Amino acid sequence: MGRVNNGVKDVERDADRWLKELAVPFLKRVGIQPKQRILDFGCGPGFYTVPAARIVGRRGRVFALDKSAKVLHELEQRAKEEGLSNIEILLTSGELGIPLPDDSVDVCLLYDVIHSHYFSHQRRITLLREIQRVLKSGGFLSFYPSHMNFNTSKRLLESMGFECIGTMKATLLHYYSLKDDRILNFLSS
Ligand SMILES: C[S@@+](CC[C@H](N)C(=O)[O-])C[C@H]1O[C@@H](n2cnc3c(N)ncnc32)[C@H](O)[C@@H]1O
Repeated sequence: MGRVNNGVKDVERDADRWLKELAVPFLKRVGIQPKQRILDFGCGPGFYTVPAARIVGRRGRVFALDKSAKVLHELEQRAKEEGLSNIEILLTSGELGIPLPDDSVDVCLLYDVIHSHYFSHQRRITLLREIQRVLKSGGFLSFYPSHMNFNTSKRLLESMGFECIGTMKATLLHYYSLKDDRILNFLSS
């Protein structure tokens, strides 16, 4: 769990540095661009949602979906402080049907969500099919297989028709702490 046991000040410093310096360059490297429509599934308190909203700008949109009202409230506060009006909050009860139309999203972020703490194998497959449904043709899924075996999860997505278009090593924010790790980008089938 990296440096999660550090003192509050270290954690605050990491989250601050992430939001101020690292997050936007990270998401640009991932491939997020102005005007896109992004789905951040299991967005948590918004450490990826907020920088994605800064990149897509006023003509883009970020759908921030989570089943926890508490983390979404934290995200709303953060977005308000930054004056961002292009984030749409989607509070769900944990169901896997995504409340968005077919072919409506350029990029789906799925970071640190589908590991065994939250998802069984079968639910993982159901969600990935839903993500294929909402992604536009040519859209991509950016996946952080945190707490999962990297190669096994890559093979699972490939077996479902996702095409791996890149592995990226980067410094990420994970549980409020900076960590060096890998993410995977997949084209939808
Ligand atoms: C470990 S956090 C990761 C948050 C964020 N993606 C990040 O990387 O900073 C996992 C999040 O997924 C959400 N989550 C888990 N299962 C979910 C489901 N079925 N539907 C919506 N959100 C879910 C949890 O509420 C939690 O906020």
